[in-house]
Amino acid sequence: MADLFSSFGLKSVSLRNRIAMSPMCQYSAIDGVPGDWHLMNLGARAAGGVGLAIGEATAVSPEGRITPGCTGLWNDAQTEAWARIARFVAAQGAVPGIQIAHAGRKGAARPPWEDGGAQYEPGDARGWQTVGPTAAAFGGNLTRVPRALTEADIVRVRADFAAAARRALAAGFQWLVLHFAHGYLAQSFFSPLSNRRTDRYGGSFENRARFLEETLAAVRAVWPERLPLTARLGVTDFVAGEQPFEESLELVRRLKAGGLDLVDVSIGFNTADRSATPWQQPAFMAPYAARIRAATGLPTAASWNIRDPAVADELVRTGQLDLVMLAKSLIDDPHWAYHAARSLGREAPKAWLSRQYASGL
Ligand SMILES: Cc1cc2nc3c(=O)[nH]c(=O)nc-3n(C[C@H](O)[C@H](O)[C@H](O)COP(=O)(O)O)c2cc1C
Repeated sequence: MADLFSSFGLKSVSLRNRIAMSPMCQYSAIDGVPGDWHLMNLGARAAGGVGLAIGEATAVSPEGRITPGCTGLWNDAQTEAWARIARFVAAQGAVPGIQIAHAGRKGAARPPWEDGGAQYEPGDARGWQTVGPTAAAFGGNLTRVPRALTEADIVRVRADFAAAARRALAAGFQWLVLHFAHGYLAQSFFSPLSNRRTDRYGGSFENRARFLEETLAAVRAVWPERLPLTARLGVTDFVAGEQPFEESLELVRRLKAGGLDLVDVSIGFNTADRSATPWQQPAFMAPYAARIRAATGLPTAASWNIRDPAVADELVRTGQLDLVMLAKSLIDDPHWAYHAARSLGREAPKAWLSRQYASGL
């Protein structure tokens, strides 16, 4: 039976355990180019024993960034800078992954430490014209009204995703995550909370799913079959008016048929109303992942409030998750994987530690 510390094979890739560093924006790139901070951020967790370290939401085009400090993969300088990081992560024994993304109507924002991440006002040179399925602002402090994408724009965005996937491969990443969650462009096409289109990209389930299915197909065509192609998908917003869960399930079935290898089950974030989200409940997205795994047979991952190693281990042992995604636990403790094994009375896996540290812990 698999547990948190078993290796996990997907396609030709093998992870040394089921613990993954969840993507985390650092808002610290210059012109989309990651630097020393990003090397440290991913490198410390890779050296600390995770099986998979996933680089932050990385924009497929300049207007696809959340903030001006977000990383990108649309030019050579970015690709080379990411290659240095991917090499370092792999040298520590972790598999290097990256999430490619388009922020859609949530772009042109300040970093969270400036005015709580509010969007730049139209006319401010630090911002840009945002885009979305529909010309409606997100709400809260994201007040910019996006331009609704035309069908020709959609073709271009799809090509941008494919080009970024090629660059991710050239940079040495072995695990690709499509950002289909958190209210960014792809997710905002799927949710009826954010998509009010009346053309073939809006309205019915088939139409709202089209942007995501076509993006997957474009990326699958350029990303090698031997490497995992995964997506982070928002399956619920915990509010009335969203898609029924059955639709999220059906979307996963279709993405699986389209070549998806694993789904990371997350939140929609298509609305500023987060009052019903059960933040305090440990691993609150895992039950959704378990239902999806049981119904579709697709391997699953999930994050959200997984802190306790015993809980994480149980999620894998009971077949709810194939991979446990951690963000805040790994901010708190880059050596979480090693400490988790020790706290559960397993043999301390010294092999997960870099040799420089192995004698010291
Ligand atoms: C600083 C920070 C940045 C994040 N950036 C991203 C991101 O780039 N892409 C993404 O899909 N999720 C992002 N998230 C969400 C995390 O990956 C994770 O899903 C979430 O924090 C829940 O996991 P946790 O309870 O272990 O923190 C971010 C979270 C944090 C704390």
